[in-house]
Amino acid sequence: MKVAAQNRYGGPEVIEIVERAKPVPGPGEVLVEVHASTVTLADCAFRKADPFIVRLFGGLFRPKLDVLGDDIAGVVVAVGPGVTRFAVGDRVHGCTGASLGAMAEYVCLKETAPLVKVPDGVALIPLGGLSYAYLTAMPFIRDEGQVKPGDHVLINGAASSVGAMAVQLAKHFGAEVTAVASGRHRALMEKLGADHFIDRQANDFTDAREAYDVVFDAVGKSSFAASAPALKPGGIYLTTVPSWGIFGLMLTGGKRGGKRGKLATTGLRGEADKLKDLHILNTLLEQGVVRAVTDRIFPLNQIVEAHRYVERETKAGDVVVTMPVAQAPLMLSAREWETES
Ligand SMILES: NC(=O)c1ccc[n+]([C@@H]2O[C@H](COP(=O)([O-])OP(=O)(O)OC[C@H]3O[C@@H](n4cnc5c(N)ncnc54)[C@H](OP(=O)(O)O)[C@@H]3O)[C@@H](O)[C@H]2O)c1
Repeated sequence: MKVAAQNRYGGPEVIEIVERAKPVPGPGEVLVEVHASTVTLADCAFRKADPFIVRLFGGLFRPKLDVLGDDIAGVVVAVGPGVTRFAVGDRVHGCTGASLGAMAEYVCLKETAPLVKVPDGVALIPLGGLSYAYLTAMPFIRDEGQVKPGDHVLINGAASSVGAMAVQLAKHFGAEVTAVASGRHRALMEKLGADHFIDRQANDFTDAREAYDVVFDAVGKSSFAASAPALKPGGIYLTTVPSWGIFGLMLTGGKRGGKRGKLATTGLRGEADKLKDLHILNTLLEQGVVRAVTDRIFPLNQIVEAHRYVERETKAGDVVVTMPVAQAPLMLSAREWETES
């Protein structure tokens, strides 16, 4: 089978398409023929070992996890002895977790992994990037922000993968949502249900005073210190990205001037929690409460270009990578594909 692998850390060009043995499912495992996965900024960080801390668990001198990718959307093509949750032919989506390895034509997963059947009528390919966005945004909005009806929630980087899902989830939990993004993303934000839009190139959301219960920086480009005045008393600032500022705050009680701040590491949640949340995602998809936002679709053989594109940090929603088995849909442009799904 074909995989996108790297044998050294570096720029996008270190990734090569190589042949590997197709895995065989053992007891309790399923073999998924991957149709789509995604490239994210987290993949780029692993690819280049930047920040350095990546090397502590990804391999000090060379990448131990040489096939990146966490999300998969595909079809079960074989099951090992004892598997009861899945059968051959099931359309599935989910994530591979700490072992990564999703950028491959086939992936073996335990049947207890964060993997669920795709609801009838939901297209497979756009789900290639959805569990990353959802499994990051959901814990921030529901658990850390505890967003409830009537809350005013501001989302910075609202057009990012995580941000676009956070907008939809904050609306789902009944909040009044202010989306902050570049002006070209205004229409998308309105489509996703945002009540207010701030063009970040024309206005600075940190100029607001005591306006928000929750400020969620989905792209980690702001700081607690600058954002705190925009929070209501008792409000909380949440960020996806580590910084000395947020570490300092969390090490000293997570609170200053009656306002709270937190970095959460959603990727490190347990598999059982992720699985439970993927079942909730399925319900939200069936009800039409959330949808995948696909920026572009790249075939596997353009994986280097996909990494270059993601690193520009201008995308809206997810960059999906399709495996050769799913080549046919690439005759559709990303926009047509979205309309179809
Ligand atoms: N804490 C965790 O456990 C965890 C888990 C997953 C991901 N993450 C992190 O979450 C972050 C977001 O990931 P993602 O995949 O959603 O990002 P993404 O989709 O790659 O982000 C692209 C977006 O970034 C926005 N952007 C770029 N520069 C900006 C700036 N200076 N201010 C505001 N927005 C800016 C752009 O918005 P405009 O085009 O509208 O300007 C674009 O829409 C990444 O850093 C990732 O590593 C953390």
